[in-house]
Amino acid sequence: NVPAELVIVANRLPVDRVTGPDGEPEWRASPGGLVTAIEPVLRANNGVWIGWPGGTDSGLEPFEHDGLTLDPIALSAEEIEGFYEGFSNATLWPLYHDVVAKPEFHREWWDSYVDVNRRFAEHAAARAAKGAMVWVHDYQLQLVPQMLRELRPDVHIGFFLHIPFPPAELFQQLPWRRQILEGLLGADLVGFQLPGGAQNFVRLVRQRVGHKTHRDLVYLPDGRTVRASAFPISIDVKGFEKLARQESVTARAKEIREALGGPRRIFLGIDRLDYTKGIHARLRAFSELIAEGELDVEDAVFVQVATPSRERVEQYRVLRDDIDRLVGRINGDHGRIGTPAISYLHASYPREEMAALYRAADIMVVSPYRDGMNLVAKEYVACQYDDGGALILSEFAGAAYELRQAWLINPYDLNGMKAALREAYHADAKDLSRRMRAMRKTIKSADITAWARSFLQAMDEVRPAHGKTL
Ligand code: G6P
Repeated sequence: NVPAELVIVANRLPVDRVTGPDGEPEWRASPGGLVTAIEPVLRANNGVWIGWPGGTDSGLEPFEHDGLTLDPIALSAEEIEGFYEGFSNATLWPLYHDVVAKPEFHREWWDSYVDVNRRFAEHAAARAAKGAMVWVHDYQLQLVPQMLRELRPDVHIGFFLHIPFPPAELFQQLPWRRQILEGLLGADLVGFQLPGGAQNFVRLVRQRVGHKTHRDLVYLPDGRTVRASAFPISIDVKGFEKLARQESVTARAKEIREALGGPRRIFLGIDRLDYTKGIHARLRAFSELIAEGELDVEDAVFVQVATPSRERVEQYRVLRDDIDRLVGRINGDHGRIGTPAISYLHASYPREEMAALYRAADIMVVSPYRDGMNLVAKEYVACQYDDGGALILSEFAGAAYELRQAWLINPYDLNGMKAALREAYHADAKDLSRRMRAMRKTIKSADITAWARSFLQAMDEVRPAHGKTL
C-alpha cells in the first residue's frame, strides 16, 4: 500500500472477478467504454486504480494485473442492490440519458449511494500520497470529490463524467439534486463529454446552489474556484489500428466473412445490451428494407453483438426479452435456410474478436437515443486503415460532434435511418474513402493520450486558482 501520486477512482476495476469453467475465480475484462478509455491513461502514468471487482468478495488485497496496480473495494449484496443496480443504474442512468426509460426514486437507494461513495472516498484518502492527484470517474461516484476534500484537503481532485449531464429541466426531478451538485463541487475540475453538459452543470449550480459563476468557472464562498469544461473522450487509436493490422485479426475477419456467406454485405452493431443504444430501431430499419425488397438476405446480413449488462435490473431484463423476440420475428419472416437476416450474439468478446468484426463489417450502425460519447464508433474508424467501410451514427451520441462525415441519423426517425442505411449500402468507394479518411484524421489528432493530457493540463491550471495554502 505505497502512497500513490495518481489515484484513479472508478466504480469498476478494468477487470472483473468471475468464476471460471473449472470453478476457480479468474479475471475477465470489464464491459463498457470507461474502462477502454482509462486503462491506457493509468498505464502511461503509473498510478493505482481503486474500484469494485464485481461480486461480493470482501477482503481482496491490492494486486498487480497485467502491469496495472489495482485496489479492490468490495460491495455487499445490499449495496449492489441499492447503490449499483438501484441508484446508479435505475435512477441516475435513465435520468441522465434523457429519461429514455423512467427513473425510479427510492430513499433507501440514495442512502446506499451515500454510504458507498463514502467508502470510496475513505479508500482514496488512504491511498493518495501528499499533494497527489485523485481522478474520480462517472455517475456512480459523484459525492466522492466533496467527501474526499473533507478528508484530504491537500490532494488535487479531478472528476470526469462519462455519460451526458442532463438539462436542468430533467436534473431537477432528482430529490437529492443539491447534494449531487455539492458533491461534484468538491473537485477542482469537473469534466464533461460536451460543452452542453458543462453548461447545464454551471447553470444548475448558479440557480440551485446560488454560487457566482462566470463562463466555465464557479466561485465558491470559501475562495475556491471550480472549473467545469468539456473534454471529449477518445480511445487508443494507434493501439486499435495496430491490432486491426495483425495477421491473426485479418485472418479472423476473413473467416467471419466466409461464415456469413462470402460476398454478403455486413451491417454491424456492437453495444452493451442497453435501452439507450437504440438496438431496436436499427433492427427494425434493416428489416423494413428487406420486407420492402430494397435489400435481399442473400446480399446483406446484420450482425448484432449485445454484451450482457446489468442483467438483474428490471428494465434490462425486459429489453433482453424484447430484442430476443424481435430478432426471432425478423429471422422467422425473412431468413432462409442457412441464411438468417440477423446474426445475433448475446456475449462479450475480447478486443481481437471485436477488431476482426470491425474489419469484416461494411457498414457500422451506431444508433443510440442518447450516449455520452460512444467509443465503438471511434474504434470502428480506428480499425479502417484502408479507408474502407461506412459509419452510420446517431446525432445524439457525443461522437457525432467529431465524426461529422458519418451518415448522421436521428434514431427516432425510422425513415431517415432507412435512407441512411440505403445510401451507405449503395455509396461508391470514392465517397466512402473520402468520409473515412476525414474521420480518421479527426480521431488521430484527438486520441486518448491527447484527452488525458488536456485534462491533466487543465488540472495544473486550476490548482493555483483554488487559493488555499496547504
Ligand atoms: C458505461 C458507464 C461506465 C460503466 C460501463 C459498464 O460505459 O459510463 O461507468 O462501467 O457503462 O457498465 P457496468 O454497469 O457494467 O459497470
